[in-house]
Amino acid sequence: MHAIHQYQDFFITYLENQSISKEPKNLYEPIDYILSLGGKRMRPVLTLMTAEVFDADYVKALPAAMAVEVFHNFSLVHDDIMDDAPLRRGSPTVHEKWNINTGILSGDAMLILAYQYFEQYEPNVFKDLAKLFSKTALEVCEGQQWDVDFETRKDVTIPEYLKMIEYKTAVLVAAAMKMGAIIAETSQENADLIYDFGLNLGLAFQLQDDYLDAFGDPETFGKQVGGDIIENKKTYLYLKAIEFSNQEQVQFLNTLFAVHSDDNEKKINEVKSIFNTSGASDATQLAIKEYTFKAFETLEKMDISNDKKSMLRAFGENLMGRKV
Ligand code: IPE
Ligand code: IPE
Ligand code: MG
Ligand code: MG
Ligand code: MG
Repeated sequence: MHAIHQYQDFFITYLENQSISKEPKNLYEPIDYILSLGGKRMRPVLTLMTAEVFDADYVKALPAAMAVEVFHNFSLVHDDIMDDAPLRRGSPTVHEKWNINTGILSGDAMLILAYQYFEQYEPNVFKDLAKLFSKTALEVCEGQQWDVDFETRKDVTIPEYLKMIEYKTAVLVAAAMKMGAIIAETSQENADLIYDFGLNLGLAFQLQDDYLDAFGDPETFGKQVGGDIIENKKTYLYLKAIEFSNQEQVQFLNTLFAVHSDDNEKKINEVKSIFNTSGASDATQLAIKEYTFKAFETLEKMDISNDKKSMLRAFGENLMGRKV
């Protein structure tokens, strides 16, 4: 096994050696741009790490890790169009730097590029990877559609929200890990358990993404702080604030989240203050911990050494402390 930062380095070296820049420039430059902007590289690291947890060489998992990261970046390019987001990883989003059509087509090309990386595996492994990937990619689309549908609904429930974030975010984290298990050709039981671990970690991850969207430090966060509030996203923070508020406050929140404000700063400040005073912020922090610990419980059932369990736990604990 290697340290987390080593997996990051292995992946970045592999990524830098891929030649994605071709003609036409307006198709490929945005792809290069978004992939080079960085990010945490969490999903590919998980693929590499999981392969080694189940005793395969991480090198074997590099193409799958790349597929997962390219898919993730594709989903961000389209997500930023859908969320009208100006900033990604501290730089202009693809559709801001180029235009919406570029974001659509470069994104489409990335989805296909991602698939192509699986062609490097032999038939049996290829089949399992491609099957898992197709299922996951479709679920991400379903989650994204719910996310958008919820913007204009005021009766979203917590279970609906949890399903939405499971689909838009958690399934990809889970699949990134299961791919490592597939490549290592471990037991079906281990593969299913690691999927479960990734799923719960992914839920915690999206809850924290919601939290940071409101309370992240604008200097370091890399995205527009308050973007979810501007877009009327029905986040865990919002749903808990509704649950904990009196009728008058609920009315106020409903009104704020029914339209697009012409004074976003005022709206963001008012909403954040309600998130804090209502107890929604604390409830979100608690839920992040709960889902992370739920992930850790899955580890107990897994047939791997204690050292490896500790590494996976350390990964989850690191994530809980993240600021970006
Ligand atoms: C952002 O993912 C999208 C979500 C699913 C929340 P990350 O927070 O992993 O983004 P990068 O890749 O590190 O920039
Ligand atoms: C993104 O959710 C999920 C996917 C990209 C599939 P968000 O919209 O919350 O992600 P960020 O906050 O823009 O990174
Ligand atoms: Mg977004
Ligand atoms: Mg979104
Ligand atoms: Mg977000």
